[in-house]
Amino acid sequence: MAYSQKVVEHYENPRNVGSFEKGDESVGTGMVGAPACGDVMKLQIKVNPSTGVIEDARFKTYGCGSAIASSSLVTEWVKGKTLDEAASIKNAQIAEELALPPVKIHCSILAEDAIKAAVADYKKKHTN
Ligand code: FES
Ligand code: FES
Repeated sequence: MAYSQKVVEHYENPRNVGSFEKGDESVGTGMVGAPACGDVMKLQIKVNPSTGVIEDARFKTYGCGSAIASSSLVTEWVKGKTLDEAASIKNAQIAEELALPPVKIHCSILAEDAIKAAVADYKKKHTN
């Protein structure tokens, strides 16, 4: 299938690939899989504990070009956002920005789920 230019651009120059150091208390990690195709996405946020603002993000995605582009885009979008703002990113926004075709919508859902999971993980670590 043909990928949109924006997908190709992120796929060829993915932003924020990698992961943060293990045991970093300011990091939240979301790991999600897509049952439909078996792709897996790991997305991490690094949060400023005093402001609650996301300062940095990383991802590792084992999946298709659209999944890689979706996660790359989301790591850019969450920087400078609060946890709640980041958790309210909708897959439809990702799909629209990347011009994803219907069969690739689940790739953007994966990215939405991953950021939500990362925010939830951070909150869980910091509620006690
Ligand atoms: Fe997910 Fe292509 S089906 S990698
Ligand atoms: Fe499954 Fe893209 S084809 S995540």
